[in-house]
Formats: sequence, structure tokens, C-alpha cells
Amino acid sequence: MCGIIGYLGYRDAYPILINGLKKLEYRGYDSSGIAVFYDNVYNLYKTKGRVHELEKKIFSCKKQVKGTTGIGHTRWATHGIPDDINAHPHVSNSNGIIMIHNGIIENYYAIKIILLKNGFTFKSKTDTEVLVNFIEYIKKENKFSLEKAVRISLNEVVGAYSIAVIEKSHPETIIIAKLGSPLSLGINNEEFFVASDPISFIDYTKNVLYLKDGEMAILKKGEKLDLRKIKDNHKLNPVIEKLKINLKEIEKGKYKHFMLKEIYEQPKTILDTLRGRLLIPEKIICIDGIESNKEIFLNAKSITIIACGTSWHASLIGEYLLEELTRIPVEVEYASEFRYRNPIIEKKDVIIVISQSGETADTLAALKLAKNKGAFVFGICNVVGSSIARNVDAGAYTHAGPEIGVASTKAFTAQITVLVLLALIIGKHRSTIDDFRYKFLCKELGSIPEKVDHALKMDDAIKKISQVYYNVDNLLYLGRGINFPVALEGALKLKEISYIHAEGYPAAEMKHGPIALIDENVPVVIIATRKGCYEKIIGNIQEIKARRGKVIAIINEGDIQVHLLADHVIEIPNISEILSPLITVVPLQLLAYQIAYIRGKNIDQPRNLAKSVTVE
Ligand code: F6R
Repeated sequence: MCGIIGYLGYRDAYPILINGLKKLEYRGYDSSGIAVFYDNVYNLYKTKGRVHELEKKIFSCKKQVKGTTGIGHTRWATHGIPDDINAHPHVSNSNGIIMIHNGIIENYYAIKIILLKNGFTFKSKTDTEVLVNFIEYIKKENKFSLEKAVRISLNEVVGAYSIAVIEKSHPETIIIAKLGSPLSLGINNEEFFVASDPISFIDYTKNVLYLKDGEMAILKKGEKLDLRKIKDNHKLNPVIEKLKINLKEIEKGKYKHFMLKEIYEQPKTILDTLRGRLLIPEKIICIDGIESNKEIFLNAKSITIIACGTSWHASLIGEYLLEELTRIPVEVEYASEFRYRNPIIEKKDVIIVISQSGETADTLAALKLAKNKGAFVFGICNVVGSSIARNVDAGAYTHAGPEIGVASTKAFTAQITVLVLLALIIGKHRSTIDDFRYKFLCKELGSIPEKVDHALKMDDAIKKISQVYYNVDNLLYLGRGINFPVALEGALKLKEISYIHAEGYPAAEMKHGPIALIDENVPVVIIATRKGCYEKIIGNIQEIKARRGKVIAIINEGDIQVHLLADHVIEIPNISEILSPLITVVPLQLLAYQIAYIRGKNIDQPRNLAKSVTVE
């Protein structure tokens, strides 16, 4: 993952780099660093820890960081532990080339051996230090310009990268290149802004160029952008786009954490996902990407949904939805497994990839594999213009707005919303849902934002429950049918931000093993809404209680039966079972948040995690 930033222009680079890095911290936050260039010298600072640690370190040096060219990096460790030495930027042996890198150089070890044989030495354990020295080696051996040395070196590299490279003796030039990891370039008159994510330079410019895989750019002070192909140096025409991010969307506002803000935004984000797609009075659903490819969906013999993490949980819900409403068989795959097992894909097979960031390396690779085999790939992404969005045959954006909290919340409900719309459109055309049910579900879907708003009112009750259980070591999450993936998601949320061990299970599976764990110290969160195997769920609750287990039940308003059985209940509004995940997940998100909050954890940036997993 990691976040990279660069600036070349006429303003002081330091504040631009630091502010940009703070906005990129969601990509990694175990160490950070900057290099700022002034005349033919540069100031390099790096440190273990977050960007504010870096700021403190620089402040304590009592030196002014001067210069109008600079690069910066916030790291999510792959090669080498998070410490000052492994932090970026990395410097070549001669001290002449300085580089930042996001990605993984897979053949770094083979390159390192060559460099060692040629007298190079290494301070860090990183693949980046290998690459910057390889560039130096190629440059010196062949008396190449930096630009040519970067290009020739990158043609030897296997792996993924987005890099920014500067030569100490030419601080008026930055060379950037991309393969597999995201890289955007902001352009404003005489200024260039380089970043893994354009949100880090949105304060300065909205003109953005998204570099494509295999492209590099030579940025020179006072000169026009020079965009080229890494492979053959072929000159390319840059396509500049206008960024459409609203600054308010990337601020916490009145909330303590982005995660809480994003949980509370869900009534609005679900509405935004539905906007212009579900016409409630007319009961018409229209999504362009589906409409123009309707025949492909209608003729699909099967559908495979591919994703990772929370998006994979949304995919599992998609499986229930699509099979129920369209009667097309659906398989759900982890992207990382799918791509390495020689999957059987035939021409015109329908594949759906789901990704909030649109940059997840495994999902992107799975999508490319499926496309190469001739499948039709439909994407459900949140980040507009992301790599996955740009590579699919067709797709639908979730329109949930930027999700900053590392633990995904509003993107999840937005993904499910798109899946519901998709299932309803295909089901209607295939006549696998009757008109009455179709209209009823359209109406209920329209009521979801209001019902989510209602579910959010349980926050105070959830805070009280969290006070009771914040110190436990283990929790079980149970759900049945379409709420089984919600149980998985609830457990994942808790693990990610509170570091409490939690597992999700289909409720009936409990007696095939997990029941052995249950005693008064292992609370069980159970989704016990009235629809769908309600009686069986009551049986499961009885089994837990018989073993002195504590039960926190998510129930429908007015449900007396479970109320009397459970230790705690969280009431949510009634809705058709098939739409219920959009509501049942809300109290689970809040429960994870409140427990993590009481435990004093870093909720928006949990340890070891990063928002966008661009390494495989
Ligand atoms: C969990 C979480 C991750 C992501 C996963 C996939 O809260 O955020 O599990 O869901 O890394 O990311 P995307 O959806 O960006 O492909």
C-alpha cells in the first residue's frame, strides 16, 4: 500500500508534502519521510510512526525546510520492519538519487545480488533501496540520463510500483512511473503534484492525470508534461480530467472519527446510490452499465463475484440476492484464491468484481485474468476513475463518497444496494420475480435510508452494551441465510478496530464446533430478525443460554420472544429478509466502533491495516 506524494513548482514544498501525507495516511502509517530539495542539496527526514511524529522530529531539528521540490512517503511495511531506516525516501549509494515507492519489486533479491557483486551496500531491508541503487547502477554503467536509467531499470523489474525519483544535482526534475500501483498527477500552471490519491492535492488543483500502467512522466520546472511509455519511450498525449471531490466529504466534521461519520452517513449514501436509479413512484430501476449489457446478464449461465475483505462479504450477500431473485447460479470467490488456481472461465462468462477502492491488487489481477479469458467483467466500485473501474467492461459506481476510515462501512451498504438493484433488474427481465414482489421490493428499497436512520438511534443502547463487554477476549457472531455474511462482517469490524478475536458463523453451524467455546465469558451476537428461520434462531439462542452464554440479539422492533430470552437486545425496523442486511449490519458497525472507542484504539487507522491493499 503506502502513500506517495511529490511537488515541483514555486511554493514551499514542505507544507504541501506534510498536508498531503496526512491525507494519505489511510494507505499506511507505520513510518513516514520527506526529502526537500534546495539548490543542489536536500534535506531528508524520516521516522518510524505517523506523519505527526515526522513533523515533531523536523520541528525539533530547528531547521527551516526550504525548497520548492520535494517528495514524501507514508509506509505500510512489506520488506523490513517499520523503523527509521526502512522508512522512505531511499537514497542511492552515491547519495545522488532519491526515491519513494509504493508497491513490491518481486525480483528485488536477484537484482540485489547483482548490485552486491558490483560493490553496492544496503542500509535497509527494503526492495525500494534495491531499485534506487539499480537505477544508479544502470545510469553509471551506461552514462545514461536519469530518465533513461529509470526507464531501462523499470523494464527489468518484476512487480508493482508507483515511484517518484529525483537526482540531487537536478532538483528541477521529478520522474514518476507506474505499474500496478495507483499514481495521479495534479497539474496547475507551473506546478506538478504527484500522489497515490488525488485527495492529497485537491486543495491546490482539480486538474488530474491518472497515469496508466506502464507509463512514466518527466516533470520539469517551467516545462510541459512529458508522458511516455516505459517499454519503448513512445510519447503519449496526456488526458487531463477534472476532479469531482467535495472537500467536506474528506473532513470529520462533528464526529470523533471518520468511521463514525461514515456509519452515520449511511442513510444519505444509500440514497445517493439509489439516486436516479430507483424511481420509486414508477417502480422503475435503471443503471446504464446494466441496461446497455442487459442481454449478457439475461443469458448468463452463471455469475462469479470476486472481491476481498468486506467487499467479499457484500459479494456473499450478492449471491443470496441474485440467486433468489434471478435464479442464476452464483459463485463467490476471494480474488487472491481465484487468480492462482487456474479457474475455469469461458468466453462470455459473467464476472462481477467488487471493490471500494478500485485498487485492490488481487481483485485487479483477478479481473485482468477473467478478461484475458474472454469473460464479461462488471465492476462495482466506489472510487471514481480507479484502476478497477477503468479496466472493467461495464460497471456501476456505488456513489458512497470518499471512505476514509480504514474499516469499511458505508461502502459495504452501498455495494449491497447496487447488488439489490442489479438483482431486481435482472429478475424482472427474466420473469423470476413476479410483478407484485418486484414492486413491493422497490418500495421497501426506497424506505431503507429512513430505516437505517432509525437503526442508528440504537447507538446509546449499543454504548451501554459495549460498556459491559469491551474487555472480553472473544466474541461469536451468528446469523442465518442472507444474514450469515452480515455476521462475518460484524466479526471482521470488531477484529479490525478493537483487536478482540471474533468469528462469524452461520447460526446452525454453531453446534458443529464453535459451541465448545461458549461459556459466560464468550458473548454471542446473534442476528435474530423475525423473517427467515426465526424459530430456528430461537432454538440457537436457547442452546447458548443453556451453556450460560451471554446473548446480544439484533431483533425487530416489538419482538417479545427474543427479548425475554436474550441478555441484551438491539431493536431495528422491520424489512423484507432479502433487504435486511442493509439494516442489520448497522448495529454491528456501531458495536465494533463503541467497543474500540472504550478500549481507546486508533479507530480510523488500526494497526497493521491500510485502506487500499495494493500489494498482493
Ligand atoms: C475491511 C476492509 C477490507 C477491504 C478489503 C477490500 O473493513 O476495509 O477488508 O474491504 O481490503 O478492499 P476494496 O473493497 O477496496 O477492494
